[in-house]
Formats: sequence, C-alpha cells, structure tokens
Amino acid sequence: MFDPRSLLLTLATLQGAQAWGSLGHATVAYIAQNYLDDTTAAWAKGVLNDTSDSYLANIASWADSYRATTAGKWSAPLHFIDAEDSPPTNCNVDYARDCGSTGCSVSAIANYTQRVGDGRLSAANTAEALKFLVHFLGDITQPLHDEALDKGGNTITVTFDGYSSDNLHSDWDTYIPQKLVGGSTLSDAQTWANELIASIDSGSYKSVAPNWIKGDDISNAVSSATAWASDANAFVCSVVMPDGVAALQQGDLYPDYYNSVIPTIELQIAKGGYRLANWLNSIYSANIAKSKRDGEIMVSKKDVDLSGRSFLPPPIPLSDAKRKRAAAGFGCNHRH
Ligand SMILES: *[C@@H]1O[C@H](CO)[C@@H](O)[C@H](O)[C@H]1NC(C)=O
Ligand SMILES: *[C@@H]1O[C@H](CO)[C@@H](O)[C@H](O)[C@H]1NC(C)=O
Repeated sequence: MFDPRSLLLTLATLQGAQAWGSLGHATVAYIAQNYLDDTTAAWAKGVLNDTSDSYLANIASWADSYRATTAGKWSAPLHFIDAEDSPPTNCNVDYARDCGSTGCSVSAIANYTQRVGDGRLSAANTAEALKFLVHFLGDITQPLHDEALDKGGNTITVTFDGYSSDNLHSDWDTYIPQKLVGGSTLSDAQTWANELIASIDSGSYKSVAPNWIKGDDISNAVSSATAWASDANAFVCSVVMPDGVAALQQGDLYPDYYNSVIPTIELQIAKGGYRLANWLNSIYSANIAKSKRDGEIMVSKKDVDLSGRSFLPPPIPLSDAKRKRAAAGFGCNHRH
C-alpha cells in the first residue's frame, strides 16, 4: 500500500533538512503576519516582492532548502545553538560556551537583525536577512535546537506512532506537529495559526503573551536571542526528556509522550510567531521608518561592520560535542 510517510521521509532526505518542519515554520510566520503593524507588513512585502496573503509563510522554510544546497552549506550551524548542559538534571545556555566560532542561531539573529534594517545592502541581501530571521526566530523556540546532547536529539532513535526508526529531533520538528494538525500544507498552517492566535487574543495565552516579548531589544539582539534560547532549552529538562534518554526508548511515544509534549509544542510555536512580529515591528520602527524620515543613512551607521563578526563569542577550544557536529558536516544526521 502507498505510504505517504515513506514518501515524505524520502523527500526529506533528498531535500535535506527541515527544522520545525515546514508546518511549524509556516505557522510561526502566519502568526507573525497577524501581529505585524501595517507599515511593517508593507515593508516586508516589498522586501520579499510578495504581496500575497502568505508573504512570510511562503519563505519560512527557505533557510532549510538553502542549507541543503552546496552554496548554502555554510549556514547549517546557524539553525541551532548547541547548549552543552546535562539534561535532564541541569539545563542552561551559555552563549560564550555554546555558540561556537562558526556562529549559531543567536549570532545569526543578531547579524540579520542588523543587516535587514541597515539600508546599505542590496535588495537580495536584505531579502536574505529577512528570510533568515523569519526562520531562525522559529528554530530557536524548538527546545532541541537549543541542546547539544546527541546532536540535538538527532541520534536518539525512537518509535513514534508505529514508526520505529524516527529520531527524537525530527519527531519534535515535524512528525508530532503533523500528527496534531493532520497535514503540512500552508492551509494546515493557517488553520493552526488561527487557533493559536485566538488563544493569544482571548484564550489561555492572553495573560502570558506579554512575557514572551518582555525585555526583547533589537539593539541588544545577542542577549535577547540568548534569553529565547534559554527559555526553550529549559523544556529539554522539564518536558523533552524529564526521565532521561533511555526512558524515551521503551516503547511508542504515541500517545502518552505525545500528549505530554503537545502543550509545549503549541506554546513554543505561538511564542515564536508573536515574538517574530514584535521583533520585525521594532526593526521597522527603529531603523527603517527612521532612515526613511531622515532621508539617508545616519552618518554613525557608516562605521557598522555588516559581516556580523562582532557578534561572535571569543574563540575557545572546540569541545567534543562541537567536534562531532563539525565532523558530521553540521547536519548529515539531521533532518532539521
Ligand atoms: C517581483 O515579482 C514579480 C511577479 O511576481 C516579477 O515579475 C518581478 O520580476 C519581481 N521583481 C523582482 C525585483 O524580483
Ligand atoms: C552575516 O551574514 C552574512 C550574509 O549572509 C554572512 O556572510 C556572514 O557570515 C554572517 N555573519 C555571521 C557572524 O554569521
């Protein structure tokens, strides 16, 4: 019998990695679209040359297709930060320890935040920066994108919903969300986004959503993004593997484990979208609207180094975990 899942797996392997699968990223994007100011939305549509109702959702997984190309391979480490903590007893993120000299999601968010609002880059480079931001603000809310253990769970083999050769990372990215939503098209993402938007506007997230963006500051992007990574990484200890790795390999993760993690997955997707909107609104009002008003790039900006190197942590000797990631080409085992 035709098994759509095996086709999906084949496609995922052929196309390389998926982080939060395309469903999760598109959902984050639709939630963000809902909370963008009109002026920010018009700017983003212009940058992306897309005036459709899916202008952010359409490019939300671009970074995954790009990293799977020869030209885009360099960007693979930017999809995660490998926290070298020790779950489930101790979870934490330390930027200087964990980011790595080739960069990580946190340095990438700082880099593309600076680049997208600078005004001196080509249209193509500005669009690249926006596409990366839309993607990385999604990735960073997935707990296993903020964890070094077993390459972010990529080498933890588990059984989910009858499939015995899944890995924990791809279950979190893709298969658990798809099981919940029942598909992975843009229309599935829009439906899921609408439910989460309703929870933010008038449901169970209403009282907590302001905390999701508290302290976020585009002029201190490294510390803001490190806080997001820490927030998600804490779930590795409390929700992803509260009883350690071996406990996840005792039987099918469906339905008990699945039921225990769904609330966190929904929370993190909602958070990612809400944060992304606030982040882009802030970039627009602080940089783009301002430089439009001033008519030209501010003089002080001309000195800004757009390579992003200044955001990287000071170099330290490679840890075992980072050596292994590098040896695996930052992603051979990953479907993220
Ligand atoms: C923008 O998109 C339109 C059609 O969707 C296309 O014809 C045009 O060439 C694009 N412009 C740029 C600058 O890419
Ligand atoms: C910043 O972005 C540019 C363009 O993608 C890239 O070449 C550069 O390596 C990035 N810098 C860091 C530190 O990630």
